[in-house]
Amino acid sequence: TKRITVPQIMRLKGQRPVVSLTAYTASLAALLDDHVDFLLVGDSMGMVLYGMPNTLSVTLDMMIAHGAAVVRGSKKACVIVDMPFGSYQASPAQAFENAARIMAETGCAGVKLEGGAEMAETISFLVERGIPVLAHVGLLPQHANTVGGFLTQRNEEKILADAHAVTNAGAFAVVIECTEPAISKKISGEIAIPTIGIGAGSDCDGQILVTEDMIGQGTGYVPSFVKRYAEVHEDITRAARDFADDVLNKRFPSK
Ligand code: KIV
Ligand code: NA
Repeated sequence: TKRITVPQIMRLKGQRPVVSLTAYTASLAALLDDHVDFLLVGDSMGMVLYGMPNTLSVTLDMMIAHGAAVVRGSKKACVIVDMPFGSYQASPAQAFENAARIMAETGCAGVKLEGGAEMAETISFLVERGIPVLAHVGLLPQHANTVGGFLTQRNEEKILADAHAVTNAGAFAVVIECTEPAISKKISGEIAIPTIGIGAGSDCDGQILVTEDMIGQGTGYVPSFVKRYAEVHEDITRAARDFADDVLNKRFPSK
């Protein structure tokens, strides 16, 4: 099987919705592979996998290690890897050096970075040099300290301008996180690239969720827009309880 390419994802706009989920590990990537257009190795791993309070402490080495794992675990999905905080904001040259490492050391198809108009120069610098970029506007978790938390973004004019800026810069698609549905609907109608919504309503060109949220694996806070398709935490806690019970009562291993 050949992997889905970035241009193929771009061509889905107006054809059918783009399907995406996050993955941080080879094992989960293998299970999701047949069902998504692209897998995002998100820096949400800092919170979901590593128990960090936000995404700011995620490192380039972490993204590369997990990105490589997801590429190894999948065959069909396009794999996109998040650029972590501090690895791209300083300059287009810094962004290129670190994005090139991510591409070379993971085998992924492109990178994602947060930001709108202020990142447009960097996005075109990368795209012109062979690195596909997935943009990310609306709620930007790497900006939690300036904004004061993970808050729904309501500045319609700014978000719309940001979406146009990243489109003109050459992004192949744009994640819209936590905005009023009317804003993402308007953006999706105006720009030529696919919009991938998360907590942004039903009128985006595609949808993404954090897999651990949608399968109910985590025990922590889950945003209200997430639909839970499974309650995996129940199976895992039951298995752990039954194992402990068996060991304590010498039922496992059996004779
Ligand atoms: O890090 C992440 O998982 C993301 C998605 C939620 C879009 O950026
Ligand atoms: Na992210």
